[in-house]
Amino acid sequence: MGAKAPAYAQGDLLTQAFARLPSFAPLPSCSRFPAGLSLSVEVTLTNAPPVSATREIETDLTGGIDKMAKLTKAQSKAHFQAEEILKKDVLSEEDKEFVFANWHEGAEFENGSTGAFFTPEGLAWDFTFDVSGHKIIDLCAGIGMLAYATYHRLMHRNGKAPEITCIERNPRYVEVGKKLLPEATWICADVFDWQELNLGKFDRAISNPPFGKVKRFGRTGPSYKGALFELHVMDIASELANEGTFIIPQNSASFKYSGVQCHSRDKKGAGVEFQNTTGFYMSEGCGIDTSCYRDMWKGVNPLCEIVTIDYAQARQQREAQEFPLFALAA
Ligand SMILES: C[S@@+](CC[C@H](N)C(=O)[O-])C[C@H]1O[C@@H](n2cnc3c(N)ncnc32)[C@H](O)[C@@H]1O
Repeated sequence: MGAKAPAYAQGDLLTQAFARLPSFAPLPSCSRFPAGLSLSVEVTLTNAPPVSATREIETDLTGGIDKMAKLTKAQSKAHFQAEEILKKDVLSEEDKEFVFANWHEGAEFENGSTGAFFTPEGLAWDFTFDVSGHKIIDLCAGIGMLAYATYHRLMHRNGKAPEITCIERNPRYVEVGKKLLPEATWICADVFDWQELNLGKFDRAISNPPFGKVKRFGRTGPSYKGALFELHVMDIASELANEGTFIIPQNSASFKYSGVQCHSRDKKGAGVEFQNTTGFYMSEGCGIDTSCYRDMWKGVNPLCEIVTIDYAQARQQREAQEFPLFALAA
């Protein structure tokens, strides 16, 4: 173990391999390393000899137990009960609702710096009023709260089961998600690998992504190059889906609807800059004031907006600007 990450001896390949190592380190023992240490990793590249190098442990790996969420006695008891339920082969709808309400995202993981805060159930159900389509992709799906509510809302509305794909980086969350929504296709992966994953096209992307300056290892969406994780996810969604519905912090949206008396559109700020650089206009959807759910998150109380984006329309507008004669002919 050394103190600093060295220059990457084998250039891009090794850097890329490191970028793929999960920042939360799936090994529980890793979370017990004291802060400031570096982790030695041997990376084997296909068609190349094994190489050893050192990578500084990310802050979300360090500090371990101290930085995990502090659960109250009641929360620990409920989390334990949820774990017991998860041991069953098949869960009833009642079991699933108990797990969604009580399985704590911070009980086993340092969830603060990875931005892993699951959507409160009531907010997830409200969110689905702004979701339509048949082929849906949930980016940063957690244990599947949004996907679960979406599955049942669309099934009820359309009379047939939607096809839902969930992408989540934390393998334990994926494992739990598979128990709660076995009807979905679960992929344990980093959303920034969307191209390599060859996911195909979807009617709609949904997401409650990590908020703010969460580590991305230098990776970005196709157009947005700023600092906010949620805007990178909305940018990635534009390549995968015709429409999108997202939960993002109010400060990253281009409007204020929740928790205010009068709705207003912003003239500046992160959301407006995102719209201007990408051409993806953020809409308020059917208009849901999310502020009543602020106290129902575990460990945080963010003021959020539900934002919808019509990517297909934005693409059409972009094409009409680039090729005005074709647009006239059509
Ligand atoms: C705010 S939580 C929301 C989870 C879920 N969508 C929900 O609404 O309950 C964000 C999730 O994104 C996951 N995540 C963080 N970075 C990711 C990445 N690069 N690729 C895929 N998932 C990621 C976290 O593990 C966490 O489960």
